[in-house]
Amino acid sequence: MTKLNETQIRAALATVQDPGSGRDLVSAELITSVVIRDGNVGVTIEAATPADAKRLEPTRKQAETAVLSLPGVSSATIVLTANRPAAAPQQQTGGRPNLVPDIESIVAVASGKGGVGKSTTAANLAVALARLGKKVGLLDADVYGPSVPRMMGLSGKPQSPDGKRIIPMENYGVKVMSMGFLVPEETPVIWRGPMVMGALEQLLRDVEWGPLDVLVVDMPPGTGDTQLTMAQRVGMAGAVIVSTPQDIALIDARKGLNMFLKVNVPVLGIVENMSYFVCPNCNHRSEIFGHGGAREEAERLGCAFLGEIPLDIEIRQLSDGGTPIVANVPDGAHAQAYLNVAEAVLGRLGQPARAAPRIVME
Ligand SMILES: Nc1ncnc2c1ncn2[C@@H]1O[C@H](COP(=O)(O)OP(=O)(O)OP(=O)(O)O)[C@@H](O)[C@H]1O
Ligand SMILES: [Mg+2]
Repeated sequence: MTKLNETQIRAALATVQDPGSGRDLVSAELITSVVIRDGNVGVTIEAATPADAKRLEPTRKQAETAVLSLPGVSSATIVLTANRPAAAPQQQTGGRPNLVPDIESIVAVASGKGGVGKSTTAANLAVALARLGKKVGLLDADVYGPSVPRMMGLSGKPQSPDGKRIIPMENYGVKVMSMGFLVPEETPVIWRGPMVMGALEQLLRDVEWGPLDVLVVDMPPGTGDTQLTMAQRVGMAGAVIVSTPQDIALIDARKGLNMFLKVNVPVLGIVENMSYFVCPNCNHRSEIFGHGGAREEAERLGCAFLGEIPLDIEIRQLSDGGTPIVANVPDGAHAQAYLNVAEAVLGRLGQPARAAPRIVME
């Protein structure tokens, strides 16, 4: 039998149509990487916008079927990522009032580029911190494309007994608040900078977070209004920058990093996501996208490297399905990878991890 090669995989992907352009996935240049390890194939499809990514889900499934139908393919891991242009930064003035005095550390999870796994990292990091004994909140600051409710398996409207204070939703030991709870999922939120600022301040100030050790904030991609608002209006303890190992993403990660440095928010470090691929059959680890780029970049920039998370179908399926892998497979290697990142973050915040109580699944 001839060995499976990239040309064959691309030929299979070329039989699948991109509904947007009417062309096939390959000529529409949506395939950003193909990796083959024995019979196991990993592919990333990059959509132009998060809305496109949503539309492309059936296409992703078709691509999976097409790749799986090739002789010699035993598994196909196809991941959709979405890139989003960042909104232009906005000039703002004002000091840094502490909007939420009961929160010890506010940590932003950010990146320059979209679709690198910020929300997945933020959700798993929050659950991991809760497992390490911390009182944790997770704020979805992506008012344009909130994905935290879905990833944390939460829906419905938060309660507000007095009509003023909002009680956050809670799952996996984490208090969660998102614009996604307040506006219907299909409504596109087209807001201008000042409105974003107002909404975010409200999500911080009017939500009954109670005392928290850490509030993890899932940021939208880029260096736009949300980032500046959070940085300038809120006393942030620091930012965690998520990056994939690809060079282009690194260039963008650097942009995100510089933005935080410019507004005097300490960068706690870089997490490398989709870092390596572990063969589901033989457990062989493949460095698919030139692994290690983020670690080198962190060293070059003099900031900490917080850890690496593999590219894994389970991570995608579980977080997209509403149970982050740290909650769903708490003893697995991937949960451990996120726990390591959580410990590194606590270390950078100067907060010791407490004895870990087991989280109770509802
Ligand atoms: N380590 C991983 N392994 C496999 N799939 C992953 C991994 N990390 C993220 N994904 C998947 O990649 C897609 C994009 O991830 P996610 O939504 O977390 O990115 P993001 O940076 O928050 O995107 P956006 O910029 O649109 O907010 C999702 O389908 C997610 O499940
Ligand atoms: Mg996101």
